[in-house]
Amino acid sequence: MRFGLFGTGPWAHLAHAPALAAHKDVELVGVWGRNPAKAAALAQEHGATAYADIDALIADVDAVAVALPPDIQADIALRAARAGKHLLLDKPVAFTTEATDAIVSAAAEHDVASVVFFTRRFMPAIQDFLDQVSATGGWLEARVDHLGSIFQDGNPFGESVWRKESGGLWDVGPHAVALVLPVLGPVTQVTALAGARDMTHVLLRHESGGITTLTLTVDAPEKLEREDASFHGESGIAVVPAVQWAPVDAFARAVDALITAAAGGPASPLDIRFGAQVGRILAAAAESIDTGRTITL
Ligand SMILES: NC(=O)c1ccc[n+]([C@@H]2O[C@H](COP(=O)([O-])OP(=O)(O)OC[C@H]3O[C@@H](n4cnc5c(N)ncnc54)[C@H](OP(=O)(O)O)[C@@H]3O)[C@@H](O)[C@H]2O)c1
Repeated sequence: MRFGLFGTGPWAHLAHAPALAAHKDVELVGVWGRNPAKAAALAQEHGATAYADIDALIADVDAVAVALPPDIQADIALRAARAGKHLLLDKPVAFTTEATDAIVSAAAEHDVASVVFFTRRFMPAIQDFLDQVSATGGWLEARVDHLGSIFQDGNPFGESVWRKESGGLWDVGPHAVALVLPVLGPVTQVTALAGARDMTHVLLRHESGGITTLTLTVDAPEKLEREDASFHGESGIAVVPAVQWAPVDAFARAVDALITAAAGGPASPLDIRFGAQVGRILAAAAESIDTGRTITL
């Protein structure tokens, strides 16, 4: 699969580019970034060509991988889908339901495969755990505390403008929601409050009757940093296992899933439609924070 990579920031360097360059079934054709010098450097590091024009790179490939802020990604993903190119997007797909739905429609219309990189869902130990927990059933609640502390000297993710504005909900929120949906199922109601340090508390009512409680921030005091997730129900408490952080391996599995789907195999359960489901929940949480109301989906 011939890929174009869009983005030259920390995540493009840490995950997308090395995974694409190393994948045996991938040719990393080109890299686009708004800063030509950064695009040239990343392209050169991985034996690709730097592109100055977004549509020229889209035209030269079978698939795009995007590591850009969500609103910038949404525009490129829509252009790529309309050009019939497969999509390997990062989370969250976009900041608005309208933008995500436009990509869903274009992907369906042009019959393109899609995968959204919910990293933990591409880690075998976590996926095995979720399969087992889903099979057990009887879950009454899920709890996810995802408290990052990214605005410390030397943390590359702290430079993002959008993370400073709404990183708790939109940066770590997608990972949390993507963990609970396969177990507790679709969400019918969302209510949320945001406090100091962007600490965002979200309650989800699931169609199954279960309730999820999320506590999210990327601006926690260092001593509060944690990533805990668990399911509670008739059979007790099941704690999501801690796993070694290996984003390049996880991204390679996302590429595998895209290649399989593009070749006519099963669509990934983490495709653009799943990305849209997650996005609707996060947009409802944002609306609840703004309005003080519980949002019904
Ligand atoms: N799946 C995961 O576990 C995971 C982990 C980390 C990040 N991500 C996702 O990956 C994406 C990229 O994240 P990131 O950490 O690299 O930081 P980011 O701030 O989201 O993206 C940085 C990149 O975006 C470019 N950029 C910023 N504003 C732009 C604009 N207005 N127009 C065009 N380009 C713009 C930057 O260019 P300059 O260098 O020129 O500023 C840089 O190339 C995000 O969507 C994030 O959610 C996912």
